[in-house]
Formats: sequence, structure tokens, C-alpha cells
Amino acid sequence: MVNLREATPADYHQIQVLDARYHLGTLTEIEWQHLYAGSPFVERCNFAWPLGWVLETPENIIVGHIGNVLVEYSLNGQSLVGASANRWVVDADFRKHSTELAKRFFAQPQVDLFLNTTATWPSGRAFGRLGALRPPVEAYDRAKFWILDHPAFVSSLLAKKNVPLAQAMGYPAGALLSLASLIRSFGKCKPNRSALVWELSAFDERFDNFWRILRAQPNRLLCVRDRAALAWRFEKPLRNGNAWVLAGNDDSGQLASYAVFLRQDSPDINLRRMRLVDFQSVGDGATFLRRAIEHSLARCHDDRVHVLEVIGFGVARKRQIENLAPYRRQLPSWMFWYKAADRLPELAQSLENPELWDPCTYDGDGCF
Ligand SMILES: CC(C)(COP(=O)(O)OP(=O)(O)OC[C@H]1O[C@@H](n2cnc3c(N)ncnc32)[C@H](O)[C@@H]1OP(=O)(O)O)[C@@H](O)C(=O)NCCC(=O)NCCS
Repeated sequence: MVNLREATPADYHQIQVLDARYHLGTLTEIEWQHLYAGSPFVERCNFAWPLGWVLETPENIIVGHIGNVLVEYSLNGQSLVGASANRWVVDADFRKHSTELAKRFFAQPQVDLFLNTTATWPSGRAFGRLGALRPPVEAYDRAKFWILDHPAFVSSLLAKKNVPLAQAMGYPAGALLSLASLIRSFGKCKPNRSALVWELSAFDERFDNFWRILRAQPNRLLCVRDRAALAWRFEKPLRNGNAWVLAGNDDSGQLASYAVFLRQDSPDINLRRMRLVDFQSVGDGATFLRRAIEHSLARCHDDRVHVLEVIGFGVARKRQIENLAPYRRQLPSWMFWYKAADRLPELAQSLENPELWDPCTYDGDGCF
């Protein structure tokens, strides 16, 4: 017998224990509050936002949890209430109750768009069974990447495949891969310390103006990127040097493009990784994108980051990135699932149009 109830701040410690047991990583209490209750959209909503739900035994032991992250979306000038499922976990002995948590997540009457943007294989499968769909874009199960440190990359790859002596084999195999990379990287982005981009240390009012321009574009589903929403995601990593914000101006000195790179390591296999998590521009932004990636590759090199990686994006952006990145890899699962609320059939229908979509790690809870 387990009881399903709304999560409260007092559940923090038990949820961390559960998350750690299933290798989901842990959050400090401040990070936890910031994620579930700190969205700038929470203050503007006229309803109480649940932090998530838990499954609890009669002895008050928490054996399951699904987090509920509030994210605002915009489509054709309309604001949409988005809920992103986060860190869904159920103790192995109680998995027959997993779906109850997911069903509770989907039963929120105030939500327009339900999301799971960091899905593992079982969570994606369960979401699909509950009516969630893959956005009509290709390859949210593939990543494009650049290698900065070939021996370290090979060691991580071997460690992931549980190959003994992965560390020792990294050097000889990495040297060979490094030679192959010389050929493969011809015409692709390379580290460039003098690429013409500006690195910013904070989001200023120019980002609110820029968001007004982005939001006015017709038929684009966009997770809100005003100054407050960007700061909610990136202020702390920016302060710690774990996020880089690069900007490009147009001829009149106005912000015309920006890209955010965020550190997302895989400590279990000793991989130091930077990800391009957001890229927006007025126009195609191709020149800026190349410069931003080249600048970041140089910074990755200086910071001893092993790989730079990109996941997602819609048709046009994906093509741009594919032209610049020498490598791609298959991810363990399709990561992005969505469902329009049942009371909004016209939204569900419009989301079938691939041109609306440009999904990336910025969406949902991908940057937390
Ligand atoms: C996410 C979670 C709550 C989903 O629970 P669930 O819907 O009950 O799914 P299960 O974990 O029982 O897995 C369902 C099935 O998929 C199988 N499966 C799991 N991972 C798989 C993979 N990578 N490839 C193929 N099959 C897989 C399981 O063996 C199981 O098979 P069965 O139905 O024949 O027994 C649960 O998997 C969990 O707590 N996982 C650990 C935390 C986690 O990774 N959370 C995801 C964060 S988004």
C-alpha cells in the first residue's frame, strides 16, 4: 500500500536519498527550491504551483517522486503554461505504482503543455503510453559533437562500455583518433581565440528587447527567453564559470544573436563536457554560430573540457550545426516528449507542424 500526495519542502531530504540511489544526482535544498518554486513565471501565475508528487508508505517512507517544473511557452503571441516532468523516480519494489505519479502530473488542470525533455528510455516509453508524442523533428536521440581531448574522450567511451584499463588505453587509442580527426574536421569549426563574439557576464535589458522580437515571429513555439527566465536558468552557472553567454550584434549595434554554453559533465565516466544549450538569432545567424562555437572550442581547450556537444534543434538549425560538427553519436533514448492538454485540441493539431518546432536543451528542465 502506498499513498500518493503532493510534495512539500519537508520531503526534500528523502527525495535526495531516492534520487542518489538511482543515480539522478542530488540538489542542495536551495537548488531544489529554485528549480521547483523559483520560476519567474510562478509569481505571475494566479494559481498555486505544486512542487511535484510523492509516493509514500504507511511508515512515511518516500518511495517515488515526480518533480513539476513550471516553464512558460509562447506561440503566436499567446502565453502557454508548460509543466516539465523532472527526476521521476520510483523505488524498484514499487514500480507497479510508477504510472500513478505520471498520471497525476498529466492531470493538472491549469497546464496547457506537458513536457518531458530529459527522458530516459523507461520514462519516455511510459509518457508515450500516456499519450505524449515526439515533436515532429528528427534526431532528438542523436548528439553532434567536437572532441578537444582525444585520449580523455576515448577513456570515457571505454569506461562507459566497462572496458578494463580504460584509462591506460585512452592514450594510444586517442592518438589514433586525433589523427583521424584532422581529416574529419576539415572545413568544420576549430578553436579560434579571436572569433568576433562578445562574452557576457549577465543578462541585461537587451535580452528583454530581443525576446520581444523573437516572440513576435509567427508560428514558432518558444520556451520563454526573457531576461528573468534566462537568469533563472543560468545566473548561478554563469557566476561559477559553468555557463558562457556569447552575443553578436547587428550593424547598428543591437543584439542580433546569442548562444549559451553550459557545463554538463558525466562524472561517472570522467567526461568533462560543455553543451550548446541555446542559440537564437534574428535571421539565420550562421556566421555568429560558427564564431560562437569556435570561441567556445578555444575556451573548452583552455578549461580542459573534453568535448563540446549539441542536442536537438529544428530542421534549419540542425542542418547548420551538422555542417560545423565533425562527430555525431546515438543517445540512449529519445529525450523529448510533449502533450497538449486534452482541452486544447487546436493546440495539439498545430503542434503537428514541424515548422513550429526548434527544440533544444533550453526547453523544459534541460538546463537544471
Ligand atoms: C522512470 C521510472 C519511474 C519509470 O518506471 P516504469 O514505468 O515502472 O518503468 P521500469 O523502470 O519498470 O521499466 C519498464 C520496462 O522497461 C525496461 N527497460 C528499462 N530500461 C530500458 C532500456 N534502456 N532499454 C530497454 N528496456 C528498458 C525494463 O526492464 C522494464 O521492462 P518490463 O516492463 O518487461 O519489466 C523508473 O524507470 C525509475 O525510477 N528509473 C530510475 C530513475 C530514472 O532513470 N528516472 C528517469 C528520469 S526522467
